[in-house]
Amino acid sequence: DWTPDAFVETTIEELKEKIGDDKVILGLSGGVDSSVAAMLLHKAIGSHLHCIFVNNGLLRKNEFDSVLDQYKDMGLNVKGVDASARFLDALKGESDPETKRKIIGRVFIEVFDDEAHQVENAKWLAQGTIYPDRIESVSASGGPSAVIKSHHNVGGLPDYMKLKVVEPLQLLFKDEVRRVGKNLNMDPAILGRHPFPGPGLGIRILGDITAEKVSILQEVDAIFIDGLKKWGLYDKVWQAGAMLLPVNSVGVMGDERTYEKCVALRAVESTDGMTADWVNLPYEFLQKTSNDIINKVKGVNRVVYDISSKPPATIEWE
Ligand code: XMP
Repeated sequence: DWTPDAFVETTIEELKEKIGDDKVILGLSGGVDSSVAAMLLHKAIGSHLHCIFVNNGLLRKNEFDSVLDQYKDMGLNVKGVDASARFLDALKGESDPETKRKIIGRVFIEVFDDEAHQVENAKWLAQGTIYPDRIESVSASGGPSAVIKSHHNVGGLPDYMKLKVVEPLQLLFKDEVRRVGKNLNMDPAILGRHPFPGPGLGIRILGDITAEKVSILQEVDAIFIDGLKKWGLYDKVWQAGAMLLPVNSVGVMGDERTYEKCVALRAVESTDGMTADWVNLPYEFLQKTSNDIINKVKGVNRVVYDISSKPPATIEWE
């Protein structure tokens, strides 16, 4: 029978043996898988694990700083790299969803490769790949490993990909990963975090991306997600977020007509992201959230709730 206790113990031993005194590089995404993988390696090899956490400028509000702090609290040897400007610059004017994904993936690889070069004598690349990733299902983990996977056929490999690969979670399912994290005393806030796509808000801003749109969507998303937490709904939802739609609609404010942005809120129940149902959130919650968004976020005058299931609709809008 599989138990987190035995898994943690034998995995740490195996990692020590396999890696010895070598240095290992790992890309943290803020997600459950890469965080648990990092913690296991940290227990095994301590500061020989070099973690890299990249801010692509498309994370949730304050997420880069707060997650970086959490990682430091866990004792991880982590370097935060704020590459927001580089990503936004590369994305300028681009509105095709797949092209946006490719740009984000490419810039991530460039930034990660630059950082990996700073770690002298690294021999291993660690990844938080879990079993479902290996059977090529949709990766909801969205971390660097997802980016790497979808880009392993682009031609010349970046140097860090020539490293030996170590994947301590490769035989586990998501619920087992969470149990391992719990066994390692990791913060429940990390273990219970909703899946978040690698391209982040970049695929939730429909059409082209600007710094202003990112900041509007970060505010909207924060009100929605904080509200879910406050109302005790966050843990009942598999994934939630907001989409910034590429339409303006008319509204009134005082005596004036406005012509401003519309956002869609999405919350789904799912087990693996392959199929999903929209969540029947309480009307009172939706009412409060909508009022908060429209009152507090300048530039938004309309909020809609997405009541589509997957299939045929997808979870993301792009
Ligand atoms: P869809 O929209 O296909 O999403 O129903 C299913 C799950 O996958 C996530 N997703 C992504 N994750 N890179 C990622 O790492 C992507 O390009 C991407 N697109 C969708 C989505 O958030 C959901 O969890």
